[in-house]
Amino acid sequence: MVDHPAYPVGLRLSGRRVVVIGGGQVAQRRLPALIAAGADIVLVSPSATPSVEAMATAGEIRWERRRYTEGDLADAWYVLIATTDPQANAQASAEAERSRVWCVRSDDANAATAWTPASGRSKGVTVAVLTADPHDRDPRRSAALRDAIVEGLRDGTIAAPHHRTRTPGVALVGGGPGDPDLITVRGRRLLAEADVVIADRLGPRDLLAELPPQVEVIDAAKIPYGRFMAQEAINAALIEHAKAGKAVVRLKGGDPFVFGRGMEEAEALAAAGIPCTVVPGISSSISVPAAAGIPVTHRGVAHEFTVVSGHVAPDDERSLVDWAALARLRGTLVVLMGVDKIGAIARALVAGGRDPHTPVAVIQEGTTAAQRRVDATLATVADTVAAEEVRPPAVIVIGEVVGVGVGTGIGTGTGTGTDSGTGTDSGTDAAPARPTP
Ligand SMILES: C[S@@+](CC[C@H](N)C(=O)[O-])C[C@H]1O[C@@H](n2cnc3c(N)ncnc32)[C@H](O)[C@@H]1O
Repeated sequence: MVDHPAYPVGLRLSGRRVVVIGGGQVAQRRLPALIAAGADIVLVSPSATPSVEAMATAGEIRWERRRYTEGDLADAWYVLIATTDPQANAQASAEAERSRVWCVRSDDANAATAWTPASGRSKGVTVAVLTADPHDRDPRRSAALRDAIVEGLRDGTIAAPHHRTRTPGVALVGGGPGDPDLITVRGRRLLAEADVVIADRLGPRDLLAELPPQVEVIDAAKIPYGRFMAQEAINAALIEHAKAGKAVVRLKGGDPFVFGRGMEEAEALAAAGIPCTVVPGISSSISVPAAAGIPVTHRGVAHEFTVVSGHVAPDDERSLVDWAALARLRGTLVVLMGVDKIGAIARALVAGGRDPHTPVAVIQEGTTAAQRRVDATLATVADTVAAEEVRPPAVIVIGEVVGVGVGTGIGTGTGTGTDSGTGTDSGTDAAPARPTP
């Protein structure tokens, strides 16, 4: 038989019988997509990995705990053969051929009648990559191509404009703490689809430079507000652009609802009848300590963490914070917007009973190239912040967790990354996805 390239097709398996023979790692990797496709899955295998067993327990697949026998493929539309027994694989494969059931084999791609592509999904699109030349199959290359296409679609570097009518409206997008890699995939995609972006000073400003020239980028701090409050002027700008039919992204630092005034904007949009989507972001309150090597909780050290705004001093009548109560807590205190008031905050905590030797770390411009960390105690932090000329934005972490990560190298530029690359099975192009950086 002449070898032709495989013919790509999308199988609609919903409610249709799919037989999987063998309950090992290959089945474990393939089953989630078959379940997601709504297939009526029968697993034939005397044993299974704990994950596969959990799918059976959850009722997602039917598991027949035995070896393959002739006739198992009756009524099947599709079969995946993945046992470690070459004889059973060959017998099942022969039955599939006789019954004209498309058959994937993990052990022998040449003996199979179907191949699993390396596939991935970005909202609304499934990407599937198959090697064209049957004699030069390279599953890792297929997987790398799949990753590149899916990532490109997600982050907008592969332009795929929707030709359907876009719903105008506003997306309140949490941009994360500053490192452009720390925005969510959804946030990045919406940014790539935006006509207008209204951005704060905090957050991943580097991403704005990547936007195509036709995107209007507006610095929220520079919106003239005349007789309005600055926030009202921002609300008005959001409404104006959305009403003009534009896809608007309001890009905010961290998470929109953590001291981000996100709900004020959502309320204003609702009042104007404008659809609003909220995309959560990675808040600086957790990520900036993490980037500096500080876990906000640690077993045996802190069972709680409290995030508090320090933008008004403890004795200011506008303060909504019960500093005396916070002083009695023994867990971690994370203070945002507290650089200017740190002296008064530290004094209030010590006056309320917190040990003056409690460690404090102040992390300025966390997750960016300019990140710096200054360590002190409650007794010394005000002087240290002044002497070291620490400037906002900074996150202040108070508590014993500050000392926990010392020695790991995390946050000092000497920490080690991890790469959990795994193997592949030979019968498909579906090598595992590249670990997310
Ligand atoms: C108005 S609040 C916004 C918080 C934001 N919504 C969040 O979830 O991270 C601004 C404060 O967040 C903190 N902050 C935000 N990004 C930071 C960063 N990259 N490094 C240090 N602190 C940061 C600072 O305390 C800053 O004064």
